[in-house]
Amino acid sequence: MPSYFVTGVSSGIGRGMVRELVRRGHRVWGIARREDHLLELQKTLGKDCFSFSVCDVEQDEQVRSTAARMEESGFRPDVVILNAGINPERLGSPFTSDGFEEVVRVNLFGAMRWVDIFMSNFRERGAGHFVAISSLAAFRGDARWIAYCASKAALTRAFEALRGRYSRDGITFTTIHLGAVDTGMGSGSSSWFRLTSEQAVYRILAAVDRRALSVTMPRLLRLILEAMRILPDAIFSRIVAGAFTDKDE
Ligand SMILES: NC(=O)c1ccc[n+]([C@@H]2O[C@H](COP(=O)([O-])OP(=O)(O)OC[C@H]3O[C@@H](n4cnc5c(N)ncnc54)[C@H](OP(=O)(O)O)[C@@H]3O)[C@@H](O)[C@H]2O)c1
Repeated sequence: MPSYFVTGVSSGIGRGMVRELVRRGHRVWGIARREDHLLELQKTLGKDCFSFSVCDVEQDEQVRSTAARMEESGFRPDVVILNAGINPERLGSPFTSDGFEEVVRVNLFGAMRWVDIFMSNFRERGAGHFVAISSLAAFRGDARWIAYCASKAALTRAFEALRGRYSRDGITFTTIHLGAVDTGMGSGSSSWFRLTSEQAVYRILAAVDRRALSVTMPRLLRLILEAMRILPDAIFSRIVAGAFTDKDE
């Protein structure tokens, strides 16, 4: 029975994934910053099935000490799901370089740190599975979310490149491009295609089980997004400028 390490498990999709994985009989180690939420989750799931560390993925020392704690307790995950993410721009803040850096530190570096942590063990074992929770925002720049789009596009490309380099070592890299989900980050979305948290969790774990390489959820949007990728920049920027109003800033 594979064991899982999951980031960002104190709420939303991460918490839903942990609940479902434990229900299926897997051992899970999760991390996030809000200790009260993590304790509450452990109370419901039990200490034998769910361990956690309070850890901020922006802080290298916290990431390293969490990895050391896992190693000491003999926890070596088979699957690593990099789910922690933020999108403060959805609250309508104007562009600043500080804000940009924070989003990139969490969504990109906060994921890649764990790839660094687990990679050597996966290579020694000749097996292991990394999963990045990216977004439809990775496909093209959305005028509302500058840092978010940049961070998720970079995460998607990093995973594509890692796959090319390490898949012969027996390591799988799965990228999940999620559309709106009715959790924390997507709670204000009025998208017709919005998934419930349960739907998102079920579909993500199904993609992980079949070791998919790159998936888009909902699948229906994939064709539209692929078409948008080849749309000339001049036309695309006119469309997104039209969709972005001062009210968004
Ligand atoms: N919901 C959507 O519509 C949607 C769409 C596309 C992609 N996604 C992606 O899905 C993932 C989960 O989103 P969600 O909707 O479930 O959001 P959420 O409910 O806000 O959950 C985000 C999780 O990330 C954790 N986190 C944030 N910053 C962190 C940090 N510095 N260190 C450690 N943990 C941190 C949060 O925990 P703490 O605050 O306790 O640290 C929380 O557990 C994200 O990567 C997001 O980009 C979501």
